[in-house]
Amino acid sequence: MNKKELIDALSPGTDPAPFFALADKVRRDNVGDGVHVRGLIEFSNTCRRNCRYCGIRAGNPKVRRYRLTKEEILACARTAVSLNYRTVVMQSGEDPAWSPRDVIPVLEAVKKETGLAITLSIGEHSREEYKALRAAGADRFLLRFETSDRELFKALKPDSDYDRRFACLAWLKEAGFQVGSGVMAGLPGQTLESLADDILLFKKLDLDMVGIGPFIPNPDTPLAGSAGGTLDLGLRMVALTRIVTVNTHIPATTAMGTLHPQGRQRALQCGANVLMPNISPVEHRVDYSLYPGKICVSDAADKCAGCVDAMLKSLGRTRAEGYGHSLKNAPKG
Ligand code: SAM
Ligand code: FES
Repeated sequence: MNKKELIDALSPGTDPAPFFALADKVRRDNVGDGVHVRGLIEFSNTCRRNCRYCGIRAGNPKVRRYRLTKEEILACARTAVSLNYRTVVMQSGEDPAWSPRDVIPVLEAVKKETGLAITLSIGEHSREEYKALRAAGADRFLLRFETSDRELFKALKPDSDYDRRFACLAWLKEAGFQVGSGVMAGLPGQTLESLADDILLFKKLDLDMVGIGPFIPNPDTPLAGSAGGTLDLGLRMVALTRIVTVNTHIPATTAMGTLHPQGRQRALQCGANVLMPNISPVEHRVDYSLYPGKICVSDAADKCAGCVDAMLKSLGRTRAEGYGHSLKNAPKG
C-alpha cells in the first residue's frame, strides 16, 4: 500500500472491515494461528527522562519509585518457566541505577538458569552498551520510535533526540538483536499522514517486531487534558501494519486492552500474534502506571496466564510453540 492508500484506510469514514479481514488472512498465512506469549517484567519505574505522555516520567512526584533486585527478577523468570512462557521481556525506565552494566549479570543469570529468550526494553544507550548486552545473551530489544513526525517527537520527548533514537535502532540491528519498534496512536497533534509514514517506516526499517498502542492520557502528566487514541484507530494501525510488514511479530498490547475490554481480542483478530502478560510482583504493578486504568494490575501471574489461555480458546487460537524468534532472520548466536 502506498501512503495515499494508507491515509485513506486510516480515515474514520472508510469502512475498516475489508482491511481487518485481509490483515487476519495475511497473519494466518504468514505467521500462523499460534500466539506467542511473553512474560513482562517491569523491573524499575525510575526514569531520568521526561516524556510528556508518560506516567513514570522523572518529573512526576506522585510516583512511588521501585527497583526489583536481581533475585526478584530471577523469581519472575522462574514464574515464566512455570507458566510455560518461553520469553521474558525486561522493561524499565532509563534508570541510572540499572545501567546496561548492571543489567548484564542479571540477564546472564536468567539465561543460564532458565534458558528463556530475553527481550530488553530499557531505552536509549550507546552502541558499545548494546553490543555488550547482546554479547551477554539478550536476544531481542524493543525501542519504539513513538512517532515518525520529527516536530511531534521533539514536542513530546523534550530530552530525547529524534536522530539518536533512530541511530539506536540501527546500533541494535548492527549488534545482532531482533529489533522491535513502534508508536502510540492518537497522540495530540498526530496526523493520519504521519501515522501512514509510521507504517511505511516500520517496513523500511525491516523490523522484527512492531508494537502499537493507543495513547492514553495520564492525569499526572503535562498531557493530562489531551484527547487519547481510540480503539478504532489502534486496530486500523495494527491491521495496516500487518498488511504492509507481513511477517513481523505484532503484540495485542496492554494499552489496547485498557481502552476496551475486548481490545486485545480484537487486535488478535486483525493482525496481532503476540500477548505480553505481566509477571511483575503484584505489589509493584500499580506503580508502573504509564497511563490510568491499566489492566491486570492486581492479578497474580498465574491468573493472567489462565486469562490468556481462555482468551485464545475463545478466539480459536493456540499458544505458539517455540521461542517465537523473528521470522525474518534466524536467531544469531
Ligand atoms: N524506557 C523505555 C523506552 O522508552 O523505550 C521502555 C519503557 S516505556 C514506559 C514503554 C512504552 O510505554 C513507550 O515506548 C510508550 O510508547 C508507552 N507509553 C508511555 N506512556 C504512555 C501512555 N500515556 N499511553 C500509551 N502508551 C504509553
Ligand atoms: Fe522514561 Fe517513560 S519517561 S519510561
